[in-house]
Amino acid sequence: MKYVTTKAELEAERLNWEKDGKTVGFVPTMGALHEGHLSLIRKARTENDMVIVSIFVNPLQFGPDEDYDAYPRTIDMDKALAEKEGTDVLFVPPVAEMYPQPPYNKVSVIKGTDVLCGKSRPGHFDGVATVVLKLFLLTRPNRAYFGQKDAQQVAVVKNMVNDFHLPVEVIASPTIREKDGLAMSSRNKNLTSEEREDATTLFSHLKIAEDRLRSGETNITELEAEMKRSLHNATSGTVDYLEILSFPSLTKELKDKQVIIAAALQFSKARLIDNIIIDI
Ligand code: PAJ
Repeated sequence: MKYVTTKAELEAERLNWEKDGKTVGFVPTMGALHEGHLSLIRKARTENDMVIVSIFVNPLQFGPDEDYDAYPRTIDMDKALAEKEGTDVLFVPPVAEMYPQPPYNKVSVIKGTDVLCGKSRPGHFDGVATVVLKLFLLTRPNRAYFGQKDAQQVAVVKNMVNDFHLPVEVIASPTIREKDGLAMSSRNKNLTSEEREDATTLFSHLKIAEDRLRSGETNITELEAEMKRSLHNATSGTVDYLEILSFPSLTKELKDKQVIIAAALQFSKARLIDNIIIDI
């Protein structure tokens, strides 16, 4: 595995592969790698000749009161894990490499951010879309891999790829969970032991809502309100949202063949999100 920190080193690798006609799979991450990230790397490994993984805690996608400084950074462990999964190039740019000057431009996501995380994290998805576009331009992947845990992120990236005709296939992969159901997340490291215990209630509430929908519940507004109340009572965290939306359009009107039940819980030092997508 090559460990590179500059655009020039990455480009040198990329040009070699281009000459040889190699296909490239790309897994963008913010590090503190866990099984969720590794599942994406494994998928990329089986579907492409070459695999690039990036680790970059992107300041642009964090709000002023969010956890940019406290975001876990475990680069030595990450290097070992990425190498073990057969990564060819691990790209770990410093902030000054990605943002060498105050930017004149950013991607502005103008649709689909009035719900879920977009609603409570203004500007977050502009930051995500901007860095993902920059990373796509640097890595020029054939395929890029994202986790369904961040379902709205997948939607934002897919919409950007469509709008800008980017020559990359975006592949969404299932959420990997701990044994007790908690979705794996780098931010789980920032939970206290008490919070870690009651964090499992996030997934169990999504499951209850899923059961209710499967057994024919049609009053979505009432179900959302009830689940939100119940989740509020079950945890020391603050319920940011619990929403049931059409998927993949993320609209209130249930017009697609799938429904997403998604929720976010804010704990003292970690904001956790999770979702379940079901056929209707
Ligand atoms: P990060 O939170 O590090 O996640 C990197 C990728 O791993 C994302 O596509 C995310 O959805 C996926 N992932 C995280 N937890 C997962 C789990 N339990 N199961 C499956 N996949 C999981 O998402 C980001 O970084 C950033 O926003 C990024 C796209 C890198 C842009 O900065």
